[in-house]
Amino acid sequence: MDVKIVSSQEEGAQIALKIFQDQLAKNNASVFGLATGSSPIAFYEAAVNSDIDFTKATSINLDEYVGLDGNNDQSYIYFMKSNLFDKKPFKVNYLPNGMAKDLAAETKRYDQIIDDNPIDLQILGIGRNGHIGFNEPGTPFDITTHVVDLTPSTIEANARFFENKDAVPRQAISMGIGSIMKSKKIILFAYGESKAQAIKDTIEGSVTTHVPASVLQNHNDVTVIIDQAAASLL
Ligand code: GLP
Repeated sequence: MDVKIVSSQEEGAQIALKIFQDQLAKNNASVFGLATGSSPIAFYEAAVNSDIDFTKATSINLDEYVGLDGNNDQSYIYFMKSNLFDKKPFKVNYLPNGMAKDLAAETKRYDQIIDDNPIDLQILGIGRNGHIGFNEPGTPFDITTHVVDLTPSTIEANARFFENKDAVPRQAISMGIGSIMKSKKIILFAYGESKAQAIKDTIEGSVTTHVPASVLQNHNDVTVIIDQAAASLL
């Protein structure tokens, strides 16, 4: 893993932007795997303020809450539109449909989308418990898109975005670790002290399903962009 310790999220965003630009220079019809959460926001801001052109590119998001539609400001489709897609149009944007009546069919539909559009570059954040997407500790490394029961720690961590803890959805649809690992390149962002243990376990710990992000040690092209606080236990 190529670990870059940055002094600000803006600096991290510029490093990521350069990797995106290099990828688009190779192929302007690239497929980008995108993430939500606070960690990639500075990167999306930098992308919006750049002259980068995504109009031939495809995006595939990692996850979506079950039961939230696009009008709900906590849905990930809403997040992606307001932070990126409304300002930087792509050829096509894919996200799991959290309102699907048949969730099993929705996971199959999403796997087909990923198979049809192999991901060139995947963005990741990381949960405090080491989750990536919504692949919680214990998730098998070869899993594809699946419906997840969120752990109490993830519900707690994400409650800050909702009116209260009870308003946080209990389930999500997530791209699987197996699909994430098939991406040709991966960038993981982590900022702040609350991520320090997860970052230590991811980079220096053993590869174990107890820390989903530790699987990234088995990938040959991962850039980890972290600040001093997230790097403080390394
Ligand atoms: C959620 C998302 C993850 C994200 C994580 C960390 O659980 N499903 O994709 O990486 O939160 O979020 P943040 O970047 O806000 O710390």
